[in-house]
Amino acid sequence: MKKSVIVLLAVTMMICLSACGGASSQKLVMATNAAFPPYESVDGSEIIGIDPEIAKLIADDLGRELVIEDMAFDSIIAAVQSGKADIAMAGLTVTEDRKQNINFSDPYTEAAQVIVVKKDSTVTCPDDLEGKTIGVQIGTTGDIYAGDIADAVIERYSKYFEAINALNQDKIDAVIVDREPAKVFVNDSDELKMIDEEFTLEEYAIGVAKENTELLDQINASLKKLQDSGKIDEIINKYIKAE
Ligand code: ARG
Repeated sequence: MKKSVIVLLAVTMMICLSACGGASSQKLVMATNAAFPPYESVDGSEIIGIDPEIAKLIADDLGRELVIEDMAFDSIIAAVQSGKADIAMAGLTVTEDRKQNINFSDPYTEAAQVIVVKKDSTVTCPDDLEGKTIGVQIGTTGDIYAGDIADAVIERYSKYFEAINALNQDKIDAVIVDREPAKVFVNDSDELKMIDEEFTLEEYAIGVAKENTELLDQINASLKKLQDSGKIDEIINKYIKAE
């Protein structure tokens, strides 16, 4: 009698563990392009940076398991729209155009587009880019702004590193890129500088599929908690040192 009760209990527990375990480890798939330090970059077999750290806290808060999918930047929004990923987190700027395709969470940080040039460049402000050859990452806001510059030739790369390499080799005159990645790229090189005058101010937010309003609400609630507790600032300050 006793024995069969124990067996029954054990079996019940096993069933419960697998069923409950399955439900509680529902995945939260994040689409990103991990070539954008300090927001996301590859470190060995890991993807590190501000975005994965914030995403991990949100996933923990929602009781879901964070899974990061590294892909081309210009595939990220489609991945969220098709349901291949649950969220887009990639230093992703909120724009009116993108809002046609996905919803954005409340912004979690401010950003800017800046210009990176060789130290000996004659370019000193955005207006000087007229007629120049400009490198951008495909599908970024930098790509869009470059398109507005009179007579500019735009070279589109799949990664910013490739644009920066082309600049180092004098194949292009300038790169338009987000400010914090720009600082990382300039710090890694003796030959590059960042132009102080900002091209545009932007905000980064988390992208969610239009129909997934429940997740959007959950993310906004999570973000609010993390902001109020100072966790978001803590993560940002860990990667971005105050000047
Ligand atoms: N903020 C810019 C944009 O949204 C560039 C983002 C690039 N992000 C990346 N992970 N490569 O268009």
